[in-house]
Amino acid sequence: MSDPKNEVSFIMVKPDGVQRGLVGEIIKRFENRGFKLVGCKMMSPSKDLLETHYVDLKSKPFFPGLIKYMSGGPVVAMAWQGKNVVKTGRSMLGATNPLDSNPGTIRGDLCIDVGRNICHGSDSVESGKREVKLWFGDSTEDYSLCTENMIYE
Ligand code: PPS
Repeated sequence: MSDPKNEVSFIMVKPDGVQRGLVGEIIKRFENRGFKLVGCKMMSPSKDLLETHYVDLKSKPFFPGLIKYMSGGPVVAMAWQGKNVVKTGRSMLGATNPLDSNPGTIRGDLCIDVGRNICHGSDSVESGKREVKLWFGDSTEDYSLCTENMIYE
């Protein structure tokens, strides 16, 4: 069984979150909670990448609209590491539909529409591994390298 301390989750600020200037707010919440940012890139994902990422939703009526929305501007793709980051990350994001997201969660505080819900988070440990691999390949960072003294001597 994998070690929950080294668990990874794929968290993405969607185009509406980037456009609204919410990248820092979302990163701040994950850093303040104690998670480690081990991968981060701003990018315009291809339609192929988005269709692979959302492959399980292919038969949903909202699928074409979802792909169009996600192609509408750059996203910030992130890999976060830490104890139980998948489950905790999902609870920090709040319910998928902002109508049901509690105040205090990212969606509950910052958005109102399921079709513009500003962020994505992996829904299981397996999805976390799959999605981080899909978006980052093997290029996530080794956070332990940051634990040396980084301040001027
Ligand atoms: S489902 O139907 O239960 O499988 O879907 P759900 O888990 O609620 O949502 C999966 C992702 O689809 C997005 N979604 C939508 N996007 C655009 N328009 C509509 N109507 C819509 N409904 C759901 C939802 O935000 C989830 O995206 P991620 O990126 O995983 O958060």
